[in-house]
Formats: sequence, structure tokens, C-alpha cells
Amino acid sequence: MTETVELLVCVTCKRDGMDPAAPRPGRLLADALSGAMPEGVVLRETECLSNCTRGCTVALRGPGRWTYVYGNLAPEQAETVTDGAAKFRAAADGLVPWRERSDHFRKNCIARIPPLEA
Ligand code: FES
Repeated sequence: MTETVELLVCVTCKRDGMDPAAPRPGRLLADALSGAMPEGVVLRETECLSNCTRGCTVALRGPGRWTYVYGNLAPEQAETVTDGAAKFRAAADGLVPWRERSDHFRKNCIARIPPLEA
């Protein structure tokens, strides 16, 4: 059985040129993802992942897996995120083959962190 993994979404991310009175794009992305999680992926809302100039920002993590941080996401890209989360969960160590990653994930990986157990 494949274990549950977590998708962290920064709800405080802004984007360049946004209306300061409008809802935060990170909040909108989290709302778009709510209820759309692939099987075995748990959504966790969080504040600032320290990638503020390249938001919106999400992270994928799970036991025995590499952790990945992705940025430069728009609230309209929920499908990109759920696709990446499903592939992350399907990879036992979290290492999704390059050719299977979306173009956005290929170009906007902010960091990857080895598993705690490594
Ligand atoms: S506010 Fe989202 S990474 Fe800092």
C-alpha cells in the first residue's frame, strides 16, 4: 500500500502587480485545491515557505521521500499541482522521472530536500 503524502500550500503568497485589497493568490490556490486532492494526498495550508518573491508556493513531502518545493504558481494552476502531487505519491521515493514532470514543475523547482531517513 502506498503511504499518504502531504501537499503544503502557502496561503499568504502574493504575486507581482496584484491588487493589495484582493484575496491573496496563495489563498485562492488553496481554495481551488480543496476537495480536489488525488487519493492519498492530504492538503495542508501553511504560511510562508520563505519563497515569497516566487509565489505561489507549494511543497510535497512524505515518509521516506524527497521533499520538493515548487514556486511561481498561479491560482489557476490547481490541476498542475494535483497532477504533480499524484505523480509524487506514485513514486516510492518521491523522485518523479524528469520526462513525467509537467513543464511548470520542471522549470520551477525551488528546492529539493533528501528524506530524513537518508
Ligand atoms: S508568503 Fe508564501 S512563501 Fe512567503
